[in-house]
Amino acid sequence: MRCTALLLWLAALHAFGKTCVECHEDGAKKSWALSKHGVIFQLEAGRERRRAPDCAGCHRVEATTPTVPHYGKKASREHAREAAQDSCRACHSPRYTTGQNAAAQRGIEIGLMKRREAAALLASARKETSGPELARIEALYVALEGNLRDLRLGLAHQSPDYQWWLGQAALDGSLLRIKGALGEARRTRALAASGK
Ligand code: HEC
Ligand code: HEC
Ligand code: HEC
Repeated sequence: MRCTALLLWLAALHAFGKTCVECHEDGAKKSWALSKHGVIFQLEAGRERRRAPDCAGCHRVEATTPTVPHYGKKASREHAREAAQDSCRACHSPRYTTGQNAAAQRGIEIGLMKRREAAALLASARKETSGPELARIEALYVALEGNLRDLRLGLAHQSPDYQWWLGQAALDGSLLRIKGALGEARRTRALAASGK
């Protein structure tokens, strides 16, 4: 009897895991799948004892309210964020996970710094340019926001690919493209002003 209850519980948990990725099938799923947790979880699929967490293994709050909205009076997004960060302790030492979470925070700060730089360039572009030149810079800024999201996911899910290639390196690339596009627009305007 106890065994049946456990099986039912495990089946429910498994179904939750599946539902998460049905709704979050983009970077959230991929960053996890590419992480050591995701790889081990998939290798051990079907085994009785699994060592690595799936979505519900860390996102305790969302797992108890898998319907949308996940957050409300009982559990705020902020509370859920803390719960996800605390979940590591079930398997890792507090010292290790404090270090991991601090490193993630530093990575996010660096990403936010790049976004601030890009936002300043965009503000200048809005004053100085218009038409297709401005549209191009606006589009590049939207891409940079996407890079920042991938960075957050990479850091949250310990995915090197998302942290570096799709995260920081992609942010650097987008920032350079914005600088380049604004520089080009300025040169074109200067040329037009000098009547050449
Ligand atoms: C090892 C624990 C862990 C696992 C496994 C995990 N997550 Fe996360 N996830 C986190 C932490 C920690 C954060 C950062 C705190 C937060 O945003 O709640 C996060 C952040 C997120 C975010 C928000 C990112 C942002 O832009 O702020 C989404 C969405 C997400 N996870 C979905 C998923 C999905 C879907 C799965 C399963 C495919 C999953 N997570 C598996 C720990 C985990
Ligand atoms: C029915 C679709 C659906 C299911 C199932 C679902 N989510 Fe969500 N999730 C959403 C939507 C929509 C949002 C944004 C609105 C909100 O905050 O509730 C969201 C927000 C989140 C966030 C906050 C980060 C962000 O990008 O806003 C996390 C983390 C998250 N979900 C994790 C999970 C996990 C883990 C599961 C499985 C236990 C899960 N979700 C199941 C649709 C879903
Ligand atoms: C259900 C247990 C479980 C939970 C919860 C969990 N992990 Fe893990 N984690 C593992 C296992 C198992 C491994 C693989 C261990 C190994 O490297 O042999 C791993 C590996 C890692 C690695 C990779 C280390 C390396 O050598 O590459 C990092 C980083 C990590 N975990 C961080 C976290 C963080 C941060 C959280 C919370 C947000 C978390 N883990 C939650 C079980 C867990």
